[in-house]
Amino acid sequence: MTVLDDHIQAAQERYLAELMDLLRIPSVSADPRYKADVQRCAGAVGQRLTEAGLDAVEVIATAGHPIVYGEKIVDPAKPTVLVYGHYDVQPADPLELWTSPPFEPVVRDGRIYARGSADDKGQFYMHVKAVEAMLHHGGLPCNVKFMIEGEEEVGSVNLGPFVRANKERLRADVVLISDTAMLANDVPSINTGLRGLSYLEVEVTGPDRDLHSGVYGGAVTNPINALCEMIAGLHDADRRITIPGFYDAVRELSAAERQALAEAPFDEAAYMRDLTIGAVHGEKGYSTPERSSIRPTLDVNGIWGGYIGEGAKTVLPSKAYAKISMRLVPDQRSADITRLFQEHFVRMAPPGVTVVVRPHHGGEAVVTPITSEAYRAASMAMEETFGKRPIPTRGGGSIPIVALFEAELGLKTVLFGFGLDSDKIHSPDEHYGVFNYMMGIRTIPRFFHHYAALMNGKA
Ligand code: BES
Ligand code: MN
Ligand code: MN
Repeated sequence: MTVLDDHIQAAQERYLAELMDLLRIPSVSADPRYKADVQRCAGAVGQRLTEAGLDAVEVIATAGHPIVYGEKIVDPAKPTVLVYGHYDVQPADPLELWTSPPFEPVVRDGRIYARGSADDKGQFYMHVKAVEAMLHHGGLPCNVKFMIEGEEEVGSVNLGPFVRANKERLRADVVLISDTAMLANDVPSINTGLRGLSYLEVEVTGPDRDLHSGVYGGAVTNPINALCEMIAGLHDADRRITIPGFYDAVRELSAAERQALAEAPFDEAAYMRDLTIGAVHGEKGYSTPERSSIRPTLDVNGIWGGYIGEGAKTVLPSKAYAKISMRLVPDQRSADITRLFQEHFVRMAPPGVTVVVRPHHGGEAVVTPITSEAYRAASMAMEETFGKRPIPTRGGGSIPIVALFEAELGLKTVLFGFGLDSDKIHSPDEHYGVFNYMMGIRTIPRFFHHYAALMNGKA
């Protein structure tokens, strides 16, 4: 591996420059104004795959944003790794809170600052460079397929149909994804679980027009007041969610499993300092790491209505809105939870308002095995480059496609993430460490070699 390491080290500046070029393309999937940029980014990713030496590269149109595919089949008898990632990014606003513009990447203090640097351009591009390096120095020990999509941040709605229609093309032995975080640069870890998601929007309607809040206030239900009371009623004093049936399917962890999770280092004081909060708060009976990974949640993501312009306007609004997400755990099913919410929320409406709940996207929670060849290969690879065996941890975010790969292709995933929770993904000043980027590029070839060797031993 040392020849390869030297080659990778020598190419650092080029790897960085190439990533910065990708980061300059504002591939914001949620906002239709960026549609042409998303398209352009897909083309750029396809070109990078070709330049890296991959075959059968294709930018595949969908009903939404394109999917980029490429492969290198060195020997059909050898195992195949399917690398998944996403080239789309979250919207960059609020723009004024960025130290430097989100789509003008810069390296500051050893970090690449740009929207998408850690989530997920910097992370999927490590695989492109790692495969390129292997192809130039000794070849690939097994086959690889790349599928890089452009709709992860908006729920991967068109990926399901694509996967179902392309089972043969996507045939593989394992899925490898770098789109999660480690505990710290000196505490490597591998995510062994992700939460599911149920996302919806609610609309509360009172009178058919905005009213004078003096003439009518007190006599007519105010939709914003009503929405706030309804939302407040969704948690009890123990911060448990009050939707009937919400916890019915939740798979509780055994004491041994919770004990194992508690062994991962966690500094609550540093956590609070980082977030500038004076206290942590959440479901009674669970620790902060548990609340943010193995427990289901309900959060308001946005709330609006009435007058929000300059100064004061005395108005009793006609409508109020909120966007609400629920993070789910095994074995809660997204469609079931969405329905439970919908039924409950409509029932909660006080007299004088009507409520409409509109489901957005969803996804299922996953737990990945730690005994598979692929997990062991990932663990060995990280142990070699970091000098420490990675700790298995459960993540709180969602990558809905992971459950889909299992259901449709029968494939397990290794969540081989090299980011940090402090990378500020989805926030202003998102960044990715140059150290993390280069460690990923050095560690991925080791995964391929260990994986091929372990699978060979099995055959
Ligand atoms: N890469 C994240 C998911 C993630 C982040 C997992 C950190 C674990 C740790 C992904 O891009 C993401 O943001 N997913 C969305 C879900 C999607 C349906 C919008 C999420 O988790 O909110
Ligand atoms: Mn991501
Ligand atoms: Mn994301």
